[in-house]
Amino acid sequence: MSDTAALATPAPPNRAARIFSGIQPSGGLTLGNYLGALKRFVQKQDEGIQTIYCLVDMHAITVWQDPQKLRHATREAAAGFIASGIDPTKSILFNQSQVSAHVELGWIFNCVARMGWMSRMTQFKDKAGKNSENVSLGLFAYPALMAADILAYRATHVPVGEDQKQHLELCRDIAAKFNNDFGVDFFPIVEPIIEGAATRVMSLRDGTSKMSKSDPSDQSRINLTDDADMISKKIRKAKTDTEPLPETLSGLKNRPEARNLVNIYAALADMTPQGVIDLYSGSLFGQFKPALADLAVAKLAPISKEMQRLMKDPAEIDRILEKGAQEANAIARPVVDQVYDIIGMIRG
Ligand code: TYM
Repeated sequence: MSDTAALATPAPPNRAARIFSGIQPSGGLTLGNYLGALKRFVQKQDEGIQTIYCLVDMHAITVWQDPQKLRHATREAAAGFIASGIDPTKSILFNQSQVSAHVELGWIFNCVARMGWMSRMTQFKDKAGKNSENVSLGLFAYPALMAADILAYRATHVPVGEDQKQHLELCRDIAAKFNNDFGVDFFPIVEPIIEGAATRVMSLRDGTSKMSKSDPSDQSRINLTDDADMISKKIRKAKTDTEPLPETLSGLKNRPEARNLVNIYAALADMTPQGVIDLYSGSLFGQFKPALADLAVAKLAPISKEMQRLMKDPAEIDRILEKGAQEANAIARPVVDQVYDIIGMIRG
């Protein structure tokens, strides 16, 4: 199979497909990160496409991070990647701050992106809320650094959850403007990969808000570090309604909590949501939730166990990240050097 055959939109003919994606190591990884991103990362790796995955610690510091906790969370996220199936001999796995090409290109993109584009980013508006005078400048510029993460590798495809779609559109705009401003065909116009049943996993307490590591309620999410008992309890206590599961997906339309649990089941079992409905239509949550809890425990508890094991040897995790950083640097350095040349910087 050619390396682009597995992708819905192949890379342009003059470019090999290359996948890049990142996750912030701020707080722990959630089921949302796993189903929306990590599980896809592993699939792409196993399809034989070149895959580069990054723990974006420079993004994490756009909001306050305690240094000790950040170090721990970065190692723990690396352990989460490996425990989920990322193989550091097949994928490049590293933390962003070890490869300076990201921030160098990020600065250049700060000078390409327009204030108007950045002001329209809904995630910034959500995160800044009414406090926009008091958030860091980095939080505002964040999507330009995200574009740099991807384009420093001239990556063609980016697997993400639905919440990152607008940032990837901005990445396309930045690439197109750079190419146009300098009269080059240098950066690819990236394709987002937003696929599967769980591109937006919702809170277990409120089916209208996204499952997130920053939600104050730990009951709202499943953490990849949760053990079997905790996973099971959280699912059994998840908010639902009193209706049985319907016969068709359209019957879930105004039932966000029910829809969320069906989607989670589908994504964990590698089924379609309709397939889940076919199995459980007519069931009450008293039957469906224990089945989902068993499935989630079977799929997730081995990951949390393996993470615990990996975390016993932090020096080994650091070695893996350092090796990944060297491999990442070998790709990104020449790209950024070419960019300096294109934009007219003198280089010794
Ligand atoms: P982050 O760290 O918030 O999330 C990492 C990945 O997990 C996905 N995700 C979800 N998917 C489904 N349901 C959810 N509830 C859920 N929560 C999170 C996100 O969509 C994402 O794919 N800006 C990015 C990190 C980043 C990046 C990049 C991504 C920095 N540079 C370059 C791709 C390419 C972020 O904050 O993701």
